[in-house]
Amino acid sequence: VSRPVQRLRILPVGSLRGVLDPPGDKSITHRAVILGALAEGVTIVENPNPGADCDATLACLGLLGIECSAAAGSLTVRGAAMRWVEPDRVLDCGNSGTTLRLLSGALAAQPFLSILAGDESLQRRPVDRVIEPLRRMGAELHARDGDRRPPLVIRGGALRGIGYRAAVPSAQVATCVLLAGLAAAGETTVELPGPARDHTERLLPAFGIEPRIEPLAGAGRRVALTGPALPSAARVRVPGDFSSAAFFLAAAASLPGSEVEARGVSLNPTRTGLLEVLAAMGAQVTIEAERVTSGGEPLGDVTVRGPDHLEAFDVPPAWIPRMVDEVPAWAIAAAAARGVSRIRGAAELRLKESDRLAALAGGLAGLGLAAREEADGLAVTGGVPTGGTVTSHGDHRIAMALALLATRARAPVVIEDTASIATSYPAFVTALGRLGGAASEEAGRAETAARIAG
Ligand code: S3P
Repeated sequence: VSRPVQRLRILPVGSLRGVLDPPGDKSITHRAVILGALAEGVTIVENPNPGADCDATLACLGLLGIECSAAAGSLTVRGAAMRWVEPDRVLDCGNSGTTLRLLSGALAAQPFLSILAGDESLQRRPVDRVIEPLRRMGAELHARDGDRRPPLVIRGGALRGIGYRAAVPSAQVATCVLLAGLAAAGETTVELPGPARDHTERLLPAFGIEPRIEPLAGAGRRVALTGPALPSAARVRVPGDFSSAAFFLAAAASLPGSEVEARGVSLNPTRTGLLEVLAAMGAQVTIEAERVTSGGEPLGDVTVRGPDHLEAFDVPPAWIPRMVDEVPAWAIAAAAARGVSRIRGAAELRLKESDRLAALAGGLAGLGLAAREEADGLAVTGGVPTGGTVTSHGDHRIAMALALLATRARAPVVIEDTASIATSYPAFVTALGRLGGAASEEAGRAETAARIAG
């Protein structure tokens, strides 16, 4: 196993202040380049996410015969009008679940063999959720461990549309099925049981495809499209990634006297549940300059100011899909609040880049805070973190959450295994420094490096 070993050392600071320009949104970047690769014509993606996850998608598309080139602040994708070429090797999705789940939908319709695999973390993540609908559409798929985990082997072919009711509100699964549906004969419908992110539906019209969307009970929705439908090339501007900004906004809420403005950040309502939670805990949240991008995405400038103290809050389970990637950031605020803050209905968090409920409970406990892990949630008692050494379990969002939690600690904190931050936010340490944080990157201990490399 070779994984770059790195650690971050964080010094406490009194407050965070300043303006943040978060990187382009990772979810939207994946979708825009994959739709561009399926489309006829040349797609331009402005402000793409610069992280390794989106690079993995681009590298896979390269092996599928798609030419992508990067210039300052934009990507050019030469679409192949739904006809990709058979890759001559395994498609390495790295750490990126979105790469694997989204590409599997498009590959199910390609008349050739492809194999998707990834790093240690990705190889543990479930793929049965995409195998089941894609088989029903007519593709042949196999995976390790009883068709549960990558590598995922796909022999694609002619597909037919299906009606698919997802068991969990997963935007990745919905997008996978909709991408397959573009090439399938007849109508494909996806029913989501909750408010999972809707970037795919917002983006499709820019590529000339109008999905039909109906609301369902429980803030879910039914999305339908009729295939075969050839996307036409688009110019898409990607808003700032709310999930990257979230760590700094939650930290601003947790440090009295802080004020952080995240500029040009996505305000898609399927992503911003954390802002409502921070406001409910007593932080001052203001939104200015709201606008909509060419990809149909709302964005604006969000400022969070830290009050004298935060109050504990129980997050309603129905809000979790709207903050599924912000639970690590939520923990920063929960750890600073007076009383016990809880989340429930968050079992999906165990299936992310790490088991995030266990990783957060371990990280909080490692910094002297009371955190109780439950089957589908966490209960966190606010307090002042001690110094110490904790691990991110190689999960970018755990690493960034612990780093910002450490800004409020009594003493320096070392976070182990932080190279994964580059999967979504390569400029994270610089951004923290600009807001007044004090972080230094260190190479891991030689014996750790040797153990991991060996
Ligand atoms: C994503 C959807 C979410 C999220 C992931 C990105 C996407 O996963 O956690 O980081 O881009 O569609 P699920 O769809 O599995 O909930």
